[in-house]
Parts: sequence; structure tokens; C-alpha cells
Amino acid sequence: MTEVAFLLNGTQVVLTGVSPTRTLLDYLREDRALCGTKEGCNEGDCGACTVIVTGADGAKALNACILFLPQLHGKAIRTVEGIAAPDGTPHPVQREMHRHHGSQCGFCTPGFIASMAAAHLNGDTDHDTTLAGNLCRCTGYAPIIRAARAAESAPVPAHMKTDSAFTLAQIPSGVSGGGREGADSPLSLRPQTIDELARWYLAHPDATLIGGATDVGLWVNKLHRDLPKTAFLGGITEMAQITDLGDGLHIGAGVTIEALRIAMGAHHPSFAELLRRYASTQIRNAATIGGNVANGSPIGDGPPALIALAAVLHLRQGDTTRNLPLEGFFLDYRKQDRRAGEFVVGVTIPKTAQYLRCYKISKRFDQDISAVCGCFNIEASGGIITSARIAFGGMAGVPKRASAIEAALIGQVLTPQIAAQIAPLMEQDFTPLSDMRASAGYRLTIAQNLLVRYAHDLAGAKTSVMEVRV
Ligand SMILES: Cc1cc2nc3c(=O)[nH]c(=O)nc-3n(C[C@H](O)[C@H](O)[C@H](O)COP(=O)(O)OP(=O)(O)OC[C@H]3O[C@@H](n4cnc5c(N)ncnc54)[C@H](O)[C@@H]3O)c2cc1C
Ligand code: FES
Ligand code: FES
Repeated sequence: MTEVAFLLNGTQVVLTGVSPTRTLLDYLREDRALCGTKEGCNEGDCGACTVIVTGADGAKALNACILFLPQLHGKAIRTVEGIAAPDGTPHPVQREMHRHHGSQCGFCTPGFIASMAAAHLNGDTDHDTTLAGNLCRCTGYAPIIRAARAAESAPVPAHMKTDSAFTLAQIPSGVSGGGREGADSPLSLRPQTIDELARWYLAHPDATLIGGATDVGLWVNKLHRDLPKTAFLGGITEMAQITDLGDGLHIGAGVTIEALRIAMGAHHPSFAELLRRYASTQIRNAATIGGNVANGSPIGDGPPALIALAAVLHLRQGDTTRNLPLEGFFLDYRKQDRRAGEFVVGVTIPKTAQYLRCYKISKRFDQDISAVCGCFNIEASGGIITSARIAFGGMAGVPKRASAIEAALIGQVLTPQIAAQIAPLMEQDFTPLSDMRASAGYRLTIAQNLLVRYAHDLAGAKTSVMEVRV
């Protein structure tokens, strides 16, 4: 049981005896009768439960269904009930949704309003991207996008700007849950430093570490798993930084996928574009790169790009640190080279890679898990390939390099013809499985075609579906 304090629609809330895995959605609907926030999928996919959460790193749209209450400590939450002005004047996005007929049955509407109000607050006008995590079954998206556009130029209402001023210091000291840290139970910790986490996790190696909870939230909601010991990593600011090392970048395990996407825009634009198609804005705002690596998923989007970039993984166990090439971390399906009480501190990647290209193949363009994710990174001198790092997700039980293809590329000039000649070697590198996302044959063909696409891409052809659409 844990103490948690936050601001909810402008009102201070202090909770004691909180079960660490109680979700914000359940709390809002069951304890506060704030039933505007809807439950659709209860797994982060539909956006019906979207709320705005403001912390030191700004205001973000998040899915309340996979947010545990301890993750909200010290934050300001705004639900759809708090988006109109206190005198009842609709928010500009509410006004424009009404004007543009953006709602029919209305089930999805509170989630859309929360996502739109968050984007409006942040001045983000890329509506296709900010709304990719909100599903609507009846209205169709055109009126909703029109409403979002129409609201763009309206000023942010004054009450929407107040959340950023909230700090825990406003809660009187001595009040339970007040002060900087709140109180943790012996079995659930919110560490503030890497050292604190290292000490506690060594003593409690059976605990579940929780970054953004975009995986762990589903273990609780869908698999009904009890998590008797938990550590919430969101308060470790030193682990949520991207540090410039001169020729490289250290990316802390707590860096969110959205923060990474923004940072990669300047260094590895193709990686940034891959991350734009990683789930939705709400998931990217929560999910961390540490969680994406540590979960060992064979279809995670981060590892193939990081392996292609020759990322070095940094691990910590008690006082001991360990560095290893990221590909060495993935031993077998869901089996990683991680010792009891050891956790991911971050990864280091080079700052630039001229020929890095990342391709994600999924059934839907947005908000979908990869069937195959291929990341290619060659170096060439005088047009001749001198080194090649090619990594795939979705082709094996782990994210894996295409060693036979890499070897065959060395000494070649990469043309679409050469790529097509070499591509069949993919069969030596991979024996993919069939599952609900793709058949083995499809995966193998796609992987081969992606190599050819890479050659076309480097030759300047337009290869993105976003570039070739009318
Ligand atoms: C709707 C939806 C869509 C998704 N779409 C995608 C997608 O397109 N691409 C993709 O790659 N993934 C996707 N995912 C999966 C998920 O978002 C990622 O795996 C995510 O990066 C996990 O990060 P997290 O911080 O939320 O991890 P958590 O859920 O907090 O943790 C995941 C695992 O990592 C462990 N862990 C977390 N941090 C650390 C650490 N520092 N050290 C050691 N262990 C740690 C946890 O104990 C747990 O085992 C999706 C998930 C959902 C719900
Ligand atoms: S209920 Fe669907 S994303 Fe939360
Ligand atoms: S209005 Fe019915 S689901 Fe969107």
C-alpha cells in the first residue's frame, strides 16, 4: 500500500493505502464517479480512456486504463470533466467538435476531446499523429480532423494553463502524502535515484520494475497477475535523460519513446519516423526505451534500430555495472542476459549514421505492432560497402542480425540488382514463424524485399507509402 498525491481537475487529492496496481481509470470511474473517461479495450489500444497528465516534462495525453496510481504522484490530471471552463464555457476543441459533427454515439468522444485538448495546449497541429491512438467506430475521422484544425488558432483557455504550476510542495507538510516523496510501502518503491533502485532491487530481485506500464498494465488488466512487489521508475530523473557524449548519445532507460522520437529527428531521422509509427501518442508518452529493451519482445520496434546502430547496453546490479553489445542481451525467446537484481540503465548509440534506414511492416499503418521491422545501416567508401549492420524484428524469437546478408554485402556496390541477388541469403539468416500477424513465407519475402527497398531508398527513390500516396 502506498500514498499518492496529485491534482485532479484543479483539486488536490491525497490517497493513502493505495494498491500500487490500481489503475487511474478504475479510480476515476469507481471512486470519483468521473465516468466521462471511458473504458473501451482496457489495454491501451482505443484511446477512450485518454486523460491529460501534466508533470515537470509538460502536458501529455495518456491512457488511464494502463496507468497505475503511483505513476501519478506529484502530477496534475485533467479528465474530460475538467476541460470546459469552470463557468461551463466549452473548450475550443469541444466547440469545434460540436460544430463539425465530430460525434455520433459519443463513446469515443471524451477520449478524442482529451487528446485534442492536450495537442491544443502543446500547439501540436499534426492531428493525424496526435489522434492515431483514438478509435472511432461511427463518425469517421474527417469531421474530427476538421474540428481539430478549426480549433488550432483559438487561444488556450486560462484554466488549461494552471496545471503546470502544481507541485507537491503545495500540499501542506504533515498532510499524509504531502512533501516531496510521499511514502512507499516496504513492497512498493518509487526510487528517486539509480543508486536507490540498485540497492532495493538487489534486496528484492523478485520485484517487478515498472517504467511506463504499457506492458505491465496489460499483465494486470488482461492476465490478472498479482504483482506483490513493485518499483516505479518514473521518479528517477537521472535515468530519463539523453546525454550528448560528443560522438555518441547516452539514452537513459526511462526516456519515453516520444522523447526519443523527438530527439532522433535531429540525429537519425529514419529511426524517428519508425518511432512515429510506434503505437500511438498516448503509448509513446508512457512507454520507455528501457521497458522496450528489457521486455525482450521479438517484435519490439526499438531493438532492431538500436542493434543496427551498434548500441551498447548499460546494466546495473547493486554496485556493479556491465556494458554489452545490445544484440548479446537477447539470448532466446523472452530470455535475456540479465542477472537477478540487474536492471537496464540505458543505451549508448552513435550520433550519426548516414545510411541508417528503418522500415516497419504492419497490418495497419498507425497504432500497430510490427509483423516485420527491418533496420539497415551500412558504411561505404568510394561506393564500396565496408561495413553492414542489418537487424530484424519479427523474424526470429529475438531481435536478430542478418549475418549472411551482412557478409555478402561487404565489398559490393549496393544497387537494387545486387540487393535482389543477395536477398535469398535471408533464408540462411532466418526461419521465421507464422502467427496472427503474418505467415512465415510472408515474413521471409518481406525481409528480402526490404533489402531491395533499402537499395532503392539510398538511390533516392521514394519508398515510403506516405511519399507515394496521392
Ligand atoms: C496499445 C499498445 C501498442 C503498442 N505498440 C508497440 C509498438 O508499436 N512497438 C513496440 O515496440 N511496442 C509496442 N507496445 C509494447 C510496449 O509499449 C513496449 O514494449 C514498451 O516500450 C514497454 O515500455 P514500458 O516503459 O511501458 O515498460 P513496462 O510495461 O513498464 O515494463 C516492461 C518490462 O520491462 C521491465 N522493465 C522496465 N524498465 C526496466 C528497466 N529499466 N530495467 C529492467 N527492466 C525494466 C519491466 O519489469 C517489464 O518486464 C505496445 C503496447 C501497447 C499497450
Ligand atoms: S480503454 Fe482503450 S485505451 Fe484505455
Ligand atoms: S462517435 Fe461512436 S465511436 Fe466515435
